[in-house]
Amino acid sequence: MKFPKGIPVGKAVVSVGKDVTIRGWIYRKRSSGGKAFMVVRDRTGTIQCVADKAVLKESEWNAVDSAYLESSVIVRGTVKRDERAPSGVELQARSVMLVHSGEQFPITEYQSPEFLLDVRHLWLRSQRMIHAMRARSYVFKYAREFLDRQGFFEITPPLLTISAGETGANLFEVQYFDQKMYLTESSQLYAEAMIYSLEKVYSFAPSWRAEKSRTTKHLAEYWHLEPEMAYFDNDMNMQLQERLVSHIAESLATKNKDILAHFGVDPESLLKVKPPFKRLTYTEAIDLLQQKGSSIKWGEDFGVEHERLLTEYEDKPVFVQNWPKEIKAFYMYTDPKNEKMVLNSDMLAPHGHGEIIGGSQREWRYDQLVENMKEKGLNLDNYKWYLDTRKYGSVPHSGFGLGMERVIKWMLNLDHIRDAIPFPRMMNRMEP
Ligand code: 4AD
Ligand code: MG
Repeated sequence: MKFPKGIPVGKAVVSVGKDVTIRGWIYRKRSSGGKAFMVVRDRTGTIQCVADKAVLKESEWNAVDSAYLESSVIVRGTVKRDERAPSGVELQARSVMLVHSGEQFPITEYQSPEFLLDVRHLWLRSQRMIHAMRARSYVFKYAREFLDRQGFFEITPPLLTISAGETGANLFEVQYFDQKMYLTESSQLYAEAMIYSLEKVYSFAPSWRAEKSRTTKHLAEYWHLEPEMAYFDNDMNMQLQERLVSHIAESLATKNKDILAHFGVDPESLLKVKPPFKRLTYTEAIDLLQQKGSSIKWGEDFGVEHERLLTEYEDKPVFVQNWPKEIKAFYMYTDPKNEKMVLNSDMLAPHGHGEIIGGSQREWRYDQLVENMKEKGLNLDNYKWYLDTRKYGSVPHSGFGLGMERVIKWMLNLDHIRDAIPFPRMMNRMEP
C-alpha cells in the first residue's frame, strides 16, 4: 500500500525528539499567522500537530488549509514536549498527506441527542463513543475470558426460532418462506440442549424483545450472554454469576482506568464489587419495599422504581431470589420447600441501574416440566424437541442470562443504555 505506517498517537509521548508518522482524523483545527494547529485523533488518543506554512510544501499547506474536521490525514514530524498539551507532547509537522478531505462534517457542537442518533454512524467517532465502544469490547472480552478459564465451551445457537424461550409476549415475527418464525428472545433452550454433550456452555448472541417500553434500559436488540451448566444447583449458579460480574468489574478497574476516567467513574467503586453479593428473598424484598413506602403487593413483578428503591444505596449488586412461580418462566425448578415458588434469582445492579441477570435452576423432570407448560398455556407441539432433552438422561442443571449493555451502562454509569451499543434498536429507532 502506498500509505506509510504510523505509530499510535497515544505512544507519541515516549518518542520525544524522534521523527514519527501518525495516521488519524482531524479532530479540531485552527489557523493563525501562517501556522495551522490540528488536533489529530486515532483510536488511542489525540495529539496536537503544528503545521508551518514555511516548512510544508505549498501543496501540503493548501491541503491542510482546506481540510475539514474529520478529514483523514497522515502527518510526519518531530515529537516535542509541550506541558500545555493534554498528552504532554505535540508534533511539529514536516509533511502532511491529506488522505481524504471529503465534505464539511455535519456534527458540530451542541447537537440534540436525536440528531446524534440520526448520524450515529458518524457520532461513533466522538471521544464519548470511542471510549464507550472500547469499554464494550473489553467487557465482552473479560466475560469470555472468565468463562473460558472456568472450562466452558462457547456455543452458537440459532437466532430464528419457532418456540418462545421466555413468555413469548414480546416476539418479533419473521416471514420464513411460507411460514412464520421469530427472532429469538433467549438462546437458553438451545444452550440447555447442549449441556448433555458439552456440560458447561455459554452462548453470546443477540436477543430481541418487542417490548413497548421506552425506558433508559430497554433495547429491542441486545447482546445476551447465556451460560448453562450441568449439575449446578441455584446456589452454585449464583456464585458463578457474582464471580463473573466481579471479574468484569475488577478488570475494567485495573486495566481501563482511562476509559473509566472519561465517564467520571472511580475505579475504587468497581473494586468494591466483590463476592458475596447481598441476597434477599422475593418475600423479603417485598417487605422492604413496603417499608420504604411502596404500594407493591406480594405476587407482583418489579418495575424500574422498585429496582431503584432496592439498590440506590448499594455499592454492589443485590440478588433477589426465590420468586413466585406464577410470575416466572415455565422452565424454572419448583422450590421443594414451597411449591408456589421457584429456585431462581435476579441480579439487580447498584444505584438503580436495574436487573442485569436473570437466572434459575431448571426443571429437569419431564412430568413437572409438562405440567408447568400446560399451566402457562404453552403449545407443547412447539416444544417437542425441548421436551426430548428431558427424556434421555436428564440431569439437574442451571443457567442464567446477562444483558451486556445493562452491565456496560452500570459500570460506565451511563444515563441511557443506547450508548452501550453502536447502533441501538429501540421502539422509534431503526436506523442507521
Ligand atoms: O430475565 P430475562 O428475560 O431472562 C432470560 O431471557 C433467560 N432465558 C436467561 C437465561 O436464564 N438464560 O433476560 C435476561 C437479561 C436481563 O436480566 C437483562 O439484563 C437483559 O437480559 N435484558 C435486556 N437488556 C436490554 N434490553 C432489554 N429489552 C432486555 N431484556 C432483558
Ligand atoms: Mg428477567
